[in-house]
Amino acid sequence: MKKVTLEEIFIHPITQKYLKRSGMAHAIKVAEYAFEFAKKNDVDPDLAVKAALLHDVGHYTWYRDGEWDYELYRENDIHAIKGASRAHKLLIRIGEDRHAAKEIAVAILLHTDSYLPEGHLNLKPLQYVVSLADESDEESGGKHHYRTIEDSEAIKRIRSLDRKIMKENEQFNKII
Ligand SMILES: [Fe+2]
Ligand SMILES: [Fe+2]
Repeated sequence: MKKVTLEEIFIHPITQKYLKRSGMAHAIKVAEYAFEFAKKNDVDPDLAVKAALLHDVGHYTWYRDGEWDYELYRENDIHAIKGASRAHKLLIRIGEDRHAAKEIAVAILLHTDSYLPEGHLNLKPLQYVVSLADESDEESGGKHHYRTIEDSEAIKRIRSLDRKIMKENEQFNKII
């Protein structure tokens, strides 16, 4: 079965629409962190990077009078739930393996516990890697959602990740 590349996910209109809303620069940086953390935690880098790129694909813009309203956001946000479902639909549509699509969707669902009841989540390594990568790029006041990136720079970094994943995956699949 042909592997879906990160570039195929990245250039899809659904990805472009929603990641431009939640912050393309943030999504790419989190994907890069996820690649590094996946290597350190023996996690499949392909799954980690795809989940990281799409982790905020479910964001809604919580505006009141043209300004981001954090209170509204905290009260009503379900971006992890929406993102998991949206990413899963997109991945299946472009031919991702069903098992991989589920793993990625669940990692997106659990990348934040802000909407869950209090208590410790027992994350699997893939889920831990994605949430840690997100946390590593967070800035106070949600500023990470507003950082911008040129399209040419974005695609260059996505292609570079694809090359690294291909190389890592060859080794990863040899080990397991
Ligand atoms: Fe998020
Ligand atoms: Fe995020």
